[in-house]
Amino acid sequence: MYNDGKIKDKELCGMTSEQPVVLGRRGFFCGILTVLMSLSLMGCSDIGSITAEQSAGYEIYKEFCGQCHERQSPKRYTAEDWPDVVDRMRSHMKEKKKRELTDEQAEHLLVFLKGHAKKK
Ligand code: HEC
Repeated sequence: MYNDGKIKDKELCGMTSEQPVVLGRRGFFCGILTVLMSLSLMGCSDIGSITAEQSAGYEIYKEFCGQCHERQSPKRYTAEDWPDVVDRMRSHMKEKKKRELTDEQAEHLLVFLKGHAKKK
């Protein structure tokens, strides 16, 4: 009879034997979700926002630049350096018989790459 109060308190606080385990698991999954989410956010923040002007180039970048290696961040080079790198990639494409960029596509791509390039 005089134990009733205690047991009720425990139940109210979620202190039954199984619940801490459940909460622990949830915490674990939440933690993993948080890590995954921040990873994907980090992936995005490397590129940041795409302006209307850059969006055609961004699509080309996504389509063409992962054919042979992981897509390389636009921040790897300065706006000055990108045209040479893209020229090199275009000759790789030709050599390896991958889909090639037209001049027009390369122009669009450079608008995107330069817009997100490493600052000097
Ligand atoms: C046909 C295959 C191929 C495609 C498609 C390709 N690359 Fe490459 N990429 C290479 C090879 C091979 C290398 C290593 C040799 C070199 O640097 O030229 C490389 C290296 C790079 C590097 C590192 C260069 C350095 O030394 O720092 C960057 C940055 C890069 N590519 C960007 C791009 C971009 C941007 C695109 C999309 C236009 C692209 N790649 C598409 C084959 C490719």
